[in-house]
Amino acid sequence: MTMRSTTYDSPPRLPDGDTVRLSDILPGDLPFELEIGPGRGLFMVERCHSAAEIRIMGFEIKRKWSCLVDQRLSREGFGDRARVFCEDARLALPRLRPDGGLHRVFIHFPDPWWKKRHQKRLVLGEDVLDEIARLLCDGGQLFIQTDVMERAEQYRSLVDAHARFEGAGDEKDSAVIAENPFGARGNREHRADDDGLPVYRLLYRRRNR
Ligand SMILES: C[S@@+](CC[C@H](N)C(=O)[O-])C[C@H]1O[C@@H](n2cnc3c(N)ncnc32)[C@H](O)[C@@H]1O
Repeated sequence: MTMRSTTYDSPPRLPDGDTVRLSDILPGDLPFELEIGPGRGLFMVERCHSAAEIRIMGFEIKRKWSCLVDQRLSREGFGDRARVFCEDARLALPRLRPDGGLHRVFIHFPDPWWKKRHQKRLVLGEDVLDEIARLLCDGGQLFIQTDVMERAEQYRSLVDAHARFEGAGDEKDSAVIAENPFGARGNREHRADDDGLPVYRLLYRRRNR
């Protein structure tokens, strides 16, 4: 009897090379979105169902979830416009071309580490934010959600201080937004909603070049 491998030892990876063109990953003209850290992937699945007119890619550092979510997207018929790759976003983002090629970047419930020695693991820092600013088109959106208030404050200070972003939330010049406007929720967001926990949301617009 053939045993099915559960080691996830060949996860989907970006093509080799110093640079990777978005159109080589998912060809076409549809707006291109990126989720950093999709985890179990429900946001990407729901986004594909609710927005027929987008391409979306995920960078997930865990082999297992990159394999399973990529397979699920393909199984549900979205393989030609949705992929997940087993990549560390901090290393993969600098390889992407062209500048301005992304329409939206999503980061949902990242960085669940508390200890100071874990700060170096954080996915959203200045380097990643610079790459997001390079890759987003003029008017492109950066959407961040977390259920940890301190983290929301930390991200807000970071992005507010960045010259390439402006708040696009409910109030003029503020990034704070009460509801998720993207018609799709990830696993953690579903759980927070089920448990009645608050979710802190920030929406930014990439300033024109
Ligand atoms: C707390 S989980 C949230 C998962 C999902 N976004 C959600 O809302 O349910 C954070 C995810 O980010 C992934 N992650 C952490 N650092 C990463 C990195 N540098 N590059 C890509 N993914 C990363 C983790 O493996 C994990 O799946």
